[in-house]
Amino acid sequence: KHAGTRKLIIETIVQKTLPNRKPNAHKGSNGKALIIGGSQFMPGAPILTTNACLRSGTGLTTLAVPEEILPIVSQNSTEATFRSLPSLDGEIKTNNLYDELSLNLFYGIAIGPGMGRRNEYSLFESFEHYEGLLVIDADGLFHLSKELPKWKGGRRAGPTIITPHTGEMGRLTGLSTATIEKHRFEVSKTFAKTFGMYVVLKGPYTIVTSPSGMQWVNQSGNPSLAKGGSGDVLTGIILGFLLQHQSILEALCNAVFIHGKTADKLVKTQDGLSVTATDILGNIGKIIH
Ligand code: APR
Ligand code: MG
Repeated sequence: KHAGTRKLIIETIVQKTLPNRKPNAHKGSNGKALIIGGSQFMPGAPILTTNACLRSGTGLTTLAVPEEILPIVSQNSTEATFRSLPSLDGEIKTNNLYDELSLNLFYGIAIGPGMGRRNEYSLFESFEHYEGLLVIDADGLFHLSKELPKWKGGRRAGPTIITPHTGEMGRLTGLSTATIEKHRFEVSKTFAKTFGMYVVLKGPYTIVTSPSGMQWVNQSGNPSLAKGGSGDVLTGIILGFLLQHQSILEALCNAVFIHGKTADKLVKTQDGLSVTATDILGNIGKIIH
């Protein structure tokens, strides 16, 4: 029944499809990325995403955070540029990200890491007319879950990618964790088709699903990744790779593979208990190619 629609992510294919820099490359030809997130009590998450995006090839990376954390976050990424957003209670407060950040200047955007859940947003209104690639993760998925009907049928201008873990998928679908654990392929596929989105359902054996229902399973990674921040790093690799690949599916499969493989290499020289998201981020470059 599933023949041909479910595939494994294979290392040799990852290696063949990873991008190479052209000799005449310049920063403008390697993609402009924007990360939106962070809040008073979670300033680190969007930094991990930003630095992972930089480590994954992006030419120009910008991070937008609520104004009060700008002084802290801007000291933690030397290569990024920054924007500040209006804030309330330590979290971003605006429904007009489209104009506030001139979104169409960016080829790809990731929203959600460390964003918080206090203030209400309409992600749909902010991104409906945005033509680039949109990755929604973490608290961005919380805001998405409040207005899902609007997203039905893939109505926004550009491709949308969501990166839920099991709990986040539960909030999006209304299904229990147990049901999702048991039916990971079916739940991902139904969601991807209904909402016209790419779905990266995380966990051991992350599943990548296309809007048409094609599915790939990742076998790299280990429990050292079960630590706050590793998801934020994956989001940065995904955003960076989306801007370096022609194919969205290849970018997503390669990102989840490299993220896991980096952790697999680290546990050979360092105890798994001590691996941090920052360690992953610092070692991506030893695994790509
Ligand atoms: N084996 C392989 N991979 C794993 C394992 C495991 N046992 N555990 C976790 N991973 C990988 C997942 O596949 C995913 O890529 O680590 C990453 C974890 O991502 P998240 O679950 O999003 O965790 P993270 O974001 O780091 O958690 C911090 O963000 O999403 C919120 O609610 C979440 O509060 C939490 C916060
Ligand atoms: Mg997460």
